[in-house]
Amino acid sequence: MKNLYKVTIMLSSMMMFLFGTTHSIVVESNESYIKSATFLSEKFEVGPGKIVVKTLLDIDFPKGHIGVKSFDVEVVDEDGKSVPLYETYLHHWFAVKYIENITMSHYIKKSHDLRNGIEFERNDGMCQGFLLPHYWGLGGESRGTSSNLPDPFAVELGNPTKLKDGFKEKWLFSIMVIDTRGTHDRKGCTECRCKLLNLPNNFYNVTMGINGQLLPRNYKGGLFCCQDKLQCKLRNDFQGPTRNLSLRYKIRWVDWMNTRCLLEYTIPRNHDSVSPHVKKANIPMTKGGYLIYGTAHMHTGVVNSTLYGQDGRVLCTSNPKYGTGKEAGNENGYLVGMSVCYPKPGSIKIKDGEILTLESIYENKFRTGAMGHFYIYLADQIPNKDLNI
Ligand SMILES: *[C@@H]1O[C@H](CO)[C@@H](O)[C@H](O)[C@H]1NC(C)=O
Ligand SMILES: *[C@@H]1O[C@H](CO)[C@@H](O)[C@H](O)[C@H]1NC(C)=O
Ligand SMILES: *[C@@H]1O[C@H](CO)[C@@H](O)[C@H](O)[C@H]1NC(C)=O
Ligand SMILES: *[C@@H]1O[C@H](CO)[C@@H](O)[C@H](O)[C@H]1NC(C)=O
Ligand SMILES: *[C@@H]1O[C@H](CO)[C@@H](O)[C@H](O)[C@H]1NC(C)=O
Repeated sequence: MKNLYKVTIMLSSMMMFLFGTTHSIVVESNESYIKSATFLSEKFEVGPGKIVVKTLLDIDFPKGHIGVKSFDVEVVDEDGKSVPLYETYLHHWFAVKYIENITMSHYIKKSHDLRNGIEFERNDGMCQGFLLPHYWGLGGESRGTSSNLPDPFAVELGNPTKLKDGFKEKWLFSIMVIDTRGTHDRKGCTECRCKLLNLPNNFYNVTMGINGQLLPRNYKGGLFCCQDKLQCKLRNDFQGPTRNLSLRYKIRWVDWMNTRCLLEYTIPRNHDSVSPHVKKANIPMTKGGYLIYGTAHMHTGVVNSTLYGQDGRVLCTSNPKYGTGKEAGNENGYLVGMSVCYPKPGSIKIKDGEILTLESIYENKFRTGAMGHFYIYLADQIPNKDLNI
C-alpha cells in the first residue's frame, strides 16, 4: 500500500489573466508505480513577428482518480523537433482545470463559447478571481525547470466523489507565444514593447486595461500590447515561412490510493505457497525524533514485523512469542507476546519528513482481520551523556 498525500497548489504572483483538442502520442508504461504519458496539443500557426494568444480547450489528460507528480511542457514543430526560444518565444502556458456541463459539451466544442456551461476550478493562493487560475504553468524557462513533486506527495485530481453531478472535469491550455524570427528587436518583442508592435491606430482609444479603464497612453509594454495576431516589426524585407507548432507535454501520475489507514486486512486463500505473506506500507513522518521504544500489534500467524528507515536501515523488528502450555499468558498456539525494541537512546534517529516502511509478515494462510500496527515512541531530546555516537 502506498500512501499519497494531497497537496494544495498555492500560487502567488502578479500578472495575467485568462482568455478564452488534441492527439496523444506515447504512453510509456513503467515497472514502477508511476505512469507517464506524452501528449501533443492541437496546432497553432506562427509566422515571423507574430503573436499567438490562444485557449486550447479539452486537452488530452490522464483519466480517472489520479495524483499528478509532474507536468512539463515545451514547444515543438510539426516534426516533433524542439523549437528554440530565439525562434518562437514561449511567453507563458497555463494548464487550467474546468468542469463542463455534459449536456452543453457539444455546443461548447462547436462555439468555443466559455461563458456558459463552464466553471473554472482554480488553485488556492493569492489573486483569486480570474487572475492566475492555473494549476501548472511557466514560460520560456519550462525546459529547464522541474515540476516534479517529491514522494509521497501528488496533486489529487478526478476524485469522483467531489465532482458535481452532470459535469465533467476537463483541462485547457492558455498560451502565449511570440515568433521573433526576423524582428527588429527580439528581446523587446518578447517583452511586448508596444512601440515595436504594429498596433492599430486607435489602439489606445479602444483598449481596456486590467481595471476596466482605457489603457493609459504611457503604457509602454506588457500583455495588453501582446494581442493575438499582432506582429512585431520586422527587419527590412525579412522573409520567413509560417509554420505550425504545438505544445508537447508530459504528465507523470500515480493512481490515487486512499490515504485512509488500513485497520485490518485479509490474507487470501493460497494453496501452495510456502513463502510468507508480506505487506508493506509507507509512513511519512512529519516530525521525527529519537526512537526509544517500538513494538507491533499483530494476530496469531504473525512471523515478524519490521520498521525500516527511508535508507533501508532496520529501526525495529518485533518477533512473536507463541504459547506452549495451558496457563494464562502461555496458551498453546496463541500469540501471547511480541518482542519490544529498546534501542540505546540516541542510537536511532528518525528525521523530520523521513518516510518509514512498515513490513508485516504473516504465515501465508487464509486469514481475516489480520493486523499490522506498529507503536513507536520518539523522544525530542535525550540526555546529553547518550548523545556522543
Ligand atoms: C520509470 O522508472 C524508473 C525507475 O524508477 C525511472 O528512472 C524512470 O524515469 C521512469 N520512467 C518514467 C517514464 O517515468
Ligand atoms: C446544464 O445545461 C443545461 C442546458 O443549458 C441546463 O438545463 C442544466 O440545468 C445544466 N446542468 C447543470 C447541472 O447545471
Ligand atoms: C483617439 O482619441 C484621440 C483623443 O483622445 C483623438 O484625437 C484621436 O483621433 C483618436 N484616434 C482614433 C484613431 O480614433
Ligand atoms: C497548419 O495547419 C493547418 C491545419 O491543419 C493548415 O491548414 C495549414 O496549411 C498549416 N500551415 C502550415 C504553414 O503548414
Ligand atoms: C522476518 O521473517 C522473515 C520470514 O521468515 C525472515 O526472512 C526475516 O529474516 C525476518 N526478519 C527479521 C528481522 O527477523
